Amino acid sequence: MQSQATYNYKVVRQFAVMTVIWGIVGMLVGVIVASQLVWPELNVLEWLSYGRLRPLHTNAVIFAFGGCALFATSYYSVQRTCHTPLFAPGLAAFTFWGWQLIIVLAAVTLPLGMTTGKEYAELEWPIDILITLVWVSYAIVFFGTLMTRKTPHIYVANWFFGGFILTVAVLHLVNSAEIPVTLFKSYSAYAGVQDAMVQWWYGHNAVGFFLTAGFLGMMYYFVPKQAGRPVYSYRLSVVHFWALVFTYMWAGPHHLHYTALPDWTQSLGMLFSLILLAPSWGGMINGIMTLSGAWHKLRDDPILKFMITSLSFYGMSTFEGPMMSIKTVNALSHYTDWTVGHVHSGALGWVAMIAIGCTYYILPRVFGRTEMYSIKLINVHFWVATLGTVLYIAAMWIAGVMQGLMWRATNPDGTLTYSFVESVKATYPFWTIRIVGGLLFLVGMIIMAYNMFKTIGQGKAVDAPVLAPAAAH
Ligand code: HEM
Ligand code: HEM
Repeated sequence: MQSQATYNYKVVRQFAVMTVIWGIVGMLVGVIVASQLVWPELNVLEWLSYGRLRPLHTNAVIFAFGGCALFATSYYSVQRTCHTPLFAPGLAAFTFWGWQLIIVLAAVTLPLGMTTGKEYAELEWPIDILITLVWVSYAIVFFGTLMTRKTPHIYVANWFFGGFILTVAVLHLVNSAEIPVTLFKSYSAYAGVQDAMVQWWYGHNAVGFFLTAGFLGMMYYFVPKQAGRPVYSYRLSVVHFWALVFTYMWAGPHHLHYTALPDWTQSLGMLFSLILLAPSWGGMINGIMTLSGAWHKLRDDPILKFMITSLSFYGMSTFEGPMMSIKTVNALSHYTDWTVGHVHSGALGWVAMIAIGCTYYILPRVFGRTEMYSIKLINVHFWVATLGTVLYIAAMWIAGVMQGLMWRATNPDGTLTYSFVESVKATYPFWTIRIVGGLLFLVGMIIMAYNMFKTIGQGKAVDAPVLAPAAAH
């Protein structure tokens, strides 16, 4: 039985298209900053110098690209799993335009050098207030949809999306507590080591909730849909949720090893990071095993390839992270490109690949097509992106371990064997390989944009009718 009402796909379409656009912009800035490390003469203007563009890259890829993907996928799946259109459509539209405004303001203020100096929370206080307004609206739309659902239970993907929305609200409010001195300048409400601890409680949970829990929400809805199989274990997914959210909260101090932070706090952070391996792998196994009995689909379904490869990278980076949190390992890895390699195995391999897979799933459905314009081009995108990711992270691992070893090497008389500049010189070949890897990943995104515009050109905006709860999602 079908009712007259339709799902609100307009806001999903808007966010899905902007995911691809901001992905290209953010990764282009990534390629530029990677090039500036190899060719410092590219730092032509102060607004376009490395120090200004690097935070623009991180904000653009995490909050613009990742953020739009999270809005698109959560809005799509929450309505479908609740069998009701989005609650408060006016507010949903506000989240789209508000979020785009925040991104544009970031793109203007960061190159101008306006920054709080807190990593991943660089935007100044007026923009912080706008973020709060948009986020509260997002929460009202999402939880309002859950509360007006026509199904008795709440599907597990919504637990993850809901956990991500609530936690990011708390993180943002606590870490952005600041005292404005002018319209463009503020100082943190915290000082000294407390400021560092609050910042990395935020920073680590930005990874845990913005870059992980929300994306696990995507996994729990879109992997079963694309594979045409139910989720491997519903019971495991519930254990996964509670274990993950509880453990992530405590792991932040691994970013502050060997600092003024009390030693026991560092050890506690290390312990919780090690424990975190279990729920992370539990989730990954649940996602990958959803394919059991349907492995053959991997052979010719490039969307599924994106999803399953992303889960493999997720498993890899959540094995590497706990290892890097061990203090003796961190003594080698910290400050080196190993960290940057770890970041991008999570960011490119996990976050970007699952977001790309889900966007390919959504686009034809919200533009009235049965599939994307070209499946072949999705396949090309998959291989280009995978090769790019592998080149990027392998280069950074080698560079990172080399840097760490060079910095600690000493002569028999106790003096340092290498100067810092020698380690920078030795890193050049690896930074060059990273540019190649990044360029490949960027080319993949441009192929995706072409495929997307062709699909849109052949299709038209359609809103599917709301299904009765007994029907499939
Ligand atoms: C074309 C693809 C990309 C390229 C070429 C690229 C390049 C870079 C470069 C050169 C840096 C600075 C490293 C340093 O300071 O030594 C960086 C940092 C960073 N990038 Fe990317 N990136 C890309 C994609 C992404 C994506 C998709 C994400 C997230 C979803 C991401 C997240 C980050 C983060 C979080 C950092 C800061 C790392 C840290 O502080 O340790 N990047 N990236
Ligand atoms: C079990 C899960 C994980 C653990 C225990 C973990 C642990 C770590 C550790 C120990 C560091 C190095 C800190 C330092 O020396 O400064 C780090 C850095 C980082 N990790 Fe992870 N990681 C995990 C998963 C991930 C995933 C899946 C992503 C991406 C989606 C990610 C993104 C980052 C980022 C962005 C940084 C750099 C932060 C900065 O310095 O700016 N991590 N992680």
